[in-house]
Amino acid sequence: MTQHVVAEKADKILTLTLNRPDKKNALTRAMYQTLATEIANADSDPGVRCILIKANGDMFTAGNDLADFAAVGNSTAAPTPADANPLLPALAKARTPIVAAVNGRAVGVGVTMLLHCDMVYLAEDALLIAPFVNLALVPEAGSSLLMPLRIGHARAFEMFVLGEPVNADTAVNWGIANRSVPQAALHSTARATAIAIAARAPASVVATKSLMRDEAVLLARMSQESGHFIRQLKSAEFKEAFAAFSERRAPDFSQFG
Ligand code: COA
Repeated sequence: MTQHVVAEKADKILTLTLNRPDKKNALTRAMYQTLATEIANADSDPGVRCILIKANGDMFTAGNDLADFAAVGNSTAAPTPADANPLLPALAKARTPIVAAVNGRAVGVGVTMLLHCDMVYLAEDALLIAPFVNLALVPEAGSSLLMPLRIGHARAFEMFVLGEPVNADTAVNWGIANRSVPQAALHSTARATAIAIAARAPASVVATKSLMRDEAVLLARMSQESGHFIRQLKSAEFKEAFAAFSERRAPDFSQFG
């Protein structure tokens, strides 16, 4: 069976490769769980000093699997903590530094997870797209807090509400990523950085990362976001947005409000 997340350890680096290219690396529940478990385990593994996240295929990820979203939205059962995405708290709690290498498009959580990565490299043709409101959803992964802090309210609002793509140069200028590099050099550049981080004094690196982040604040915001997110997933607005994606047409929200 194809592994949709491939985990490999070498040179004190845990590499997590998204590997569902036929579905543009759309992230399923099982993929989130693998990523979450690998990230959590890395923190207690002295053989891992840095995590590198990258993707196979022509894009980083098309974001959450929309069929999974629709399944939660259509369920009549009351939401439980088990419905929550396990990757998000794992990112908030991560102690091991994370480097990301983004090729092609990164959509939705593919963008918001970058705010939890410590260094981000983009291929020159990368596009970051956060179409939460186009899908009648709300930003997640603590991004409603982290994105405005990183790039300012006006830019964050534009990204979330208009959902227009941000290209690699702009993303670097705005501070979402460290650098854009030619596609051919993307993985080697990110790996070289992971190796450089892994060569630094490990306790010093971990303490530095933890001083730069407030886990409790992030988890509290994720919980708030999750309440709004689940409500929207169950809304008629989301049903229209999902039908529009499936029918390859623009959504029509004129009937709401
Ligand atoms: N969830 C589930 N399947 C997805 C998906 C997603 N988020 N994104 C793409 N796919 C699937 C498509 O349904 C298609 O499957 P099929 O071959 O069985 O029909 C396959 O991946 C290829 O996608 P396609 O749309 O043909 O590729 P594209 O290159 O023309 O467009 C995207 C790529 C990412 C722009 C487009 O697929 C898209 O907009 N996806 C939805 C992104 C999104 O809204 N994500 C949620 C964010 S919160």
